[in-house]
This record gives sequence, C-alpha cells and structure tokens, in this order.
Amino acid sequence: MAVSEPLIRKIVDADFERVADLTNKDFPSMEMTASKVAWRLSLGYSYFVAVVGGEVVGFADIWLGEKRAKLMGMAVEEKLRGRGIGGALIKKAIEFSIENGKKTIYLDVRRNNLAAIHFYERHGFIFKKETENGGEGFYLFYRKLET
Ligand SMILES: CC(C)(COP(=O)(O)OP(=O)(O)OC[C@H]1O[C@@H](n2cnc3c(N)ncnc32)[C@H](O)[C@@H]1OP(=O)(O)O)[C@@H](O)C(=O)NCCC(=O)NCCS
Repeated sequence: MAVSEPLIRKIVDADFERVADLTNKDFPSMEMTASKVAWRLSLGYSYFVAVVGGEVVGFADIWLGEKRAKLMGMAVEEKLRGRGIGGALIKKAIEFSIENGKKTIYLDVRRNNLAAIHFYERHGFIFKKETENGGEGFYLFYRKLET
C-alpha cells in the first residue's frame, strides 16, 4: 500500500537530530549525531528527507563524485516500510544524480541485508562485485543513469 505521497525535500537544520536517530536505529556503528550530519553536509554530502504527516520518516544521503554518484545510506522508519517511502527517496536520489550530470549511481549494501538488496534490484541496480569493509561483507550495486 502506498502512503499518501511522501514529500521529499532537502534536509534543513531542524531535521539533523531526527536523521541522526534514524541513522543510528539501522547503523548504530556510525554513532551519528546532529553535528556529524552538519559536518557531512559541510563536506559536500547531500541529504534528502521523506516527510509524512509533517514528520521526517526517512532519509537518503548521496555523495556526488566526479563521474559517479554514491548512495551513502538510506533508511525509513521501521513501522512505515513497505509503503513506497524508500521508493520515493531513491527516485529522488537518482533524479538528483542525473540533474548533476552523473552517469552512474552506486552503493554498498551488507550481504545479509536481503530486504535492501531486493529493494535496490527492484529499482534497477545491478550487482557488480563483493567488497569488504571493517571485516564485514558488502555487495557493490550500480545503476547506469540516462541523461
Ligand atoms: C531499504 C529501505 C530503505 C526501503 O524502504 P521502504 O520504504 O520499505 O521501501 P518501499 O516501500 O519503496 O519498497 C520496499 C520493498 O519491500 C517490500 N516490503 C513489504 N513490506 C515490507 C516491510 N515491512 N519492510 C520492508 N520492505 C517491505 C515492499 O513491498 C517493496 O517491495 P517491492 O519493491 O517489490 O514492491 C528500508 O527497508 C529500510 O530502511 N531498511 C533498513 C535500512 C537499510 O537497510 N538501508 C539500506 C542500507 S544500504
């Protein structure tokens, strides 16, 4: 079931705390804080948030490299998953990458994260190779972007 279209917009300062909380629920090892979100923005990361009923319920962050965009991470509040919010966020990430002239978007996903792997495949991402980071196994997935 799709929720009433989530609003996808750029992050604003008032969202930092909430995005840090959403990050830590799924990626506790990142030890995200509002100031780390601000720091990442200052380094050039781009964040989009999904808003439903006036509340931030998901985010995606993207790094624009010279030729490629990297989806650094995304998460949707657990109780609202499976309703198209992640889909709206990834569409925005793809659109944003195209607007910025990138030819490819890629990401690393933990090998055991089957829900996310299914989700990325559904959105046209293709497996490229296995990678390791900090002793953990990842898959690199990419999607070519039409310009
Ligand atoms: C990956 C993630 C962002 C997707 O967000 P989402 O809002 O559930 O995305 P959507 O609703 O657009 O699509 C989810 C897919 O899973 C299915 N699904 C159904 N119920 C679901 C549930 N309770 N939880 C997750 N997925 C569910 C949906 O039907 C959909 O499949 P489809 O594309 O074949 O229709 C979300 O699962 C999440 O936050 N996961 C934890 C963090 C994470 O793993 N991030 C990615 C790290 S690389």
